Amino acid sequence: MKVLIVNGSPHTDGSVSVALKEVENALNQEGIDTEVIQIGRLAIRSCVACKSCYKTGKCAIDDIVNEAAPKFEECDGLVVGAPVYYAAANPTLTAFLTRLFYSTRFDKRMKVGAAVCSARRGGITASFDELNKFFTISGMPIASGQYWNGIHGNSAEDAKKDLEGLQMMRTLGKNMAFLIKSIALGKKEYGLPEKEEPIRTNFIN
Ligand SMILES: Cc1cc2nc3c(=O)[nH]c(=O)nc-3n(C[C@H](O)[C@H](O)[C@H](O)COP(=O)(O)O)c2cc1C
Repeated sequence: MKVLIVNGSPHTDGSVSVALKEVENALNQEGIDTEVIQIGRLAIRSCVACKSCYKTGKCAIDDIVNEAAPKFEECDGLVVGAPVYYAAANPTLTAFLTRLFYSTRFDKRMKVGAAVCSARRGGITASFDELNKFFTISGMPIASGQYWNGIHGNSAEDAKKDLEGLQMMRTLGKNMAFLIKSIALGKKEYGLPEKEEPIRTNFIN
């Protein structure tokens, strides 16, 4: 069982990484493998709505998004970590997730999702809500911790002092591992839920 961890921060050793490391250690202790990808310093465009992915199943902008897609397809869970910029998840991460989720056609149902945010002071819950929407539109259950997964810090040193934040991340990792294992058992016993043909009603009338 494997979890893909996407660090959206431009800092490999910043506050987001402190939080993600705590989640990762807890997952590993529970026997779940992890892979971290660092995307925050890459020049990642957002979706240009060319819709060529409808035909190809991959993004026309051939970059880290297409590299990450097979890793996402193979994993049992996805953790995304964002620094908060103007009370929202940082745009490099949301550009990456927008294209990753939109361009891929594989079934994401029952892959477990978790979002983690870091801020100096405010905007964690707004960013957390924003990120969770990628999971809930895709049939992905969300693993939760013991609060709204956030750590406070303007640097790694600050973040390491947020003992409640660190505990929240450990709890999240343990809960996520439990959920992934439970879903694996459930899939074996019951299979995935039956899927209807999607109905799309656009609100124009
Ligand atoms: C462009 C920019 C906007 C920011 N906006 C906010 C904000 O709205 N609220 C906040 O508390 N911190 C804000 N910060 C601070 C970062 O969220 C905070 O330092 C974060 O923990 C950085 O994580 P990192 O060390 O992993 O990069 C902002 C930082 C930058 C660079």
